[in-house]
Amino acid sequence: MRGDPSTPDGIPDHDENDPAEHAVIVRLAGNWHRRASVKREELQQDELFDIDKLDYPERILPFREHPTYLALDREERSRLLSWAWIAYNRTTVLLEGQVVNPAFQLALDGWLPSVGKEKLQRSVAQAMVDEQYHTLMHMNASAVTRRRRRQAFPDAALPLPRVAREHAKLRDSWPEQWQRSLTTLGFATVAEISINAYLNLIADDTEIQPVNSATVRIHNRDEYCHASIATVLAEQVYGDLDEKGRRFFLNSLAAGLDSFVANDFATWHRIIDQTGLPGGHRMLHDIEDATDNRPLIHDYSGLRGLAERLGVEDDLEFDWSQTITDSESAPPT
Ligand SMILES: [Fe+2]
Ligand SMILES: [Fe+2]
Repeated sequence: MRGDPSTPDGIPDHDENDPAEHAVIVRLAGNWHRRASVKREELQQDELFDIDKLDYPERILPFREHPTYLALDREERSRLLSWAWIAYNRTTVLLEGQVVNPAFQLALDGWLPSVGKEKLQRSVAQAMVDEQYHTLMHMNASAVTRRRRRQAFPDAALPLPRVAREHAKLRDSWPEQWQRSLTTLGFATVAEISINAYLNLIADDTEIQPVNSATVRIHNRDEYCHASIATVLAEQVYGDLDEKGRRFFLNSLAAGLDSFVANDFATWHRIIDQTGLPGGHRMLHDIEDATDNRPLIHDYSGLRGLAERLGVEDDLEFDWSQTITDSESAPPT
């Protein structure tokens, strides 16, 4: 690892015709101005808002079949699902701001090896602009929900989302800069190659609030390209690490995936505090304690594909057995 980002070997390579640049990166760096959401017309949120639609899909609630939930009337369900949407936006915003963009910044700052190529650097900088725009889109999406539902739904009532919480805890537990950098890169890599699975939970849902699924669909389009960028970045960094660094990075990927795919019960408990649903906390404990408590996301094909490319599928300590691909988990249309 480089200890000092200002050392000469951290200076980017400016050769536009460098044959060593990855073909996918050359293509993505060159067409960003045409494909990026930030370069397109903004979503007309108010026009798309339908007050009669639920804000979040019931089919992905961890407690959707619990008697306490099933006993709620339409208004109580609607309020709970609006909160779920606010929390989904907040999770996305904090994932972009506290995990993904910090990892990209480390790459630009020269803290990661092998990221000196001009096109790869440009792709990473473009992706950071995309992420900042996604933050704005999801903040706007929460704002229109608050405005049209005439409820405060304060972000401040929610805890730090699980993935941001666990990333910070693990990162801060390491004494060395290279360990902290690889922890952030591990979590960000998982996020970037698995976020499609997270966004797909909502993007193609034709039943819920149209402005919400549209917001997520637009975000998702950018993320298909980020998955390629993150894969190349991870491959190049991994290729340059020594054995100790490689083992450390693989452990960071596994830890990142564990926290990324799980249901965030701390957030759900806080939502129950806010809604005051009778029996709500007990309902959550029932689900948390159940042996068949399944994660929110069970499409691990992104990380599995990366593990195969790195030739480390057996070295990653993660249980792949619950993998369901996108098409199997897609909502009925
Ligand atoms: Fe994003
Ligand atoms: Fe991204």
